[in-house]
Amino acid sequence: MKTKDKLLSLLEENRGSYFSGEEIAEKLSVTRAAVWKAVKSLREEGYQIDAVQNKGYCLAVQTDILSSQGIRKYLGPVCKDLELEILAEVDSTNAWIRQKAAVGAEEGCTIIANEQTCGKGRWGRSFYSPAGTGIYMSILLRPQGWSPEKAVRLTTMAAVSACEAAEEISGEKAEIKWVNDIYMRGKKVSGILTEASFSLESGCVDYAVLGIGFNVYKPEGGFPEELKHTAGAVFDSRQNDGKNRLAAEFLNRFMQYYTARDMSEYKSRYRERSMVIGKEISVVLPGGSKKGVALDVDEECRLVVRLEDGKLERLSSGEISIRVNLDFAE
Ligand code: BTN
Repeated sequence: MKTKDKLLSLLEENRGSYFSGEEIAEKLSVTRAAVWKAVKSLREEGYQIDAVQNKGYCLAVQTDILSSQGIRKYLGPVCKDLELEILAEVDSTNAWIRQKAAVGAEEGCTIIANEQTCGKGRWGRSFYSPAGTGIYMSILLRPQGWSPEKAVRLTTMAAVSACEAAEEISGEKAEIKWVNDIYMRGKKVSGILTEASFSLESGCVDYAVLGIGFNVYKPEGGFPEELKHTAGAVFDSRQNDGKNRLAAEFLNRFMQYYTARDMSEYKSRYRERSMVIGKEISVVLPGGSKKGVALDVDEECRLVVRLEDGKLERLSSGEISIRVNLDFAE
């Protein structure tokens, strides 16, 4: 490991505490000159490392930069096998993980980017992924013996995890708009794109890429015109270590649900957090729209709707979009 990375681990694990140059050199088994070089290079990356005479160096508590060291300090045992890499910029973290999967990368290989130049959304849309204000993350999963129907659960598990994580860190309410959007204060703050590759022989999942994007903060200058009425951010103002905390909280929760023997818990949590279940909705179809009431989300993540004519329909997410009380539309 580079001295700079070792130094970052030490400082991240002890935010707000001072270490003298000599102490750091001893702990990292390097020279004091190497410590100074590493401090300089972290500062160039934007880290606020305060230096005080007779006290030494300290990472300022308000620092808010994504790093694997910064995330790891919050990860629980369920995430111990995750291989975490942080990139300053990438086209799409999902595309990156798919490439890794194709050459045999193991389950748990996780990429988090600070910016995406070609972030992918559902239905071939793009996902706005500016630098410094979001978390763009993809995790490689290799669930054994999962059918395509079961694989859809990865999205709903991620939605519950994202909701709970955003709520835990921000202290504000988060809800799920079926099937994969997280809303806070009436605006979309997070979206999920799960892509999977299936084995023709077994008909089961070979690998799945779970991709999630969070708008952690509003971008400077606001969201672009086409998003400004629908997009929001998890936090209203800058937080100390907000991005690392949120990323780790999501990973802890998602891996807990994913590895649980009994998967029923996340399903009830999904229902509790749904902003659609129990509401009157309009199902928007190419030929017009139909009114109904959303009753439930079933085992295959289809929305169970009682239409006006009394018919019960199970709607798959890829085929339709819905409006709730005409307040928002997808
Ligand atoms: C949606 O809202 O339509 C889904 C958005 C999913 C965005 C995430 S960001 C990380 C990962 N990489 C991508 O290119 N897309 C997903």
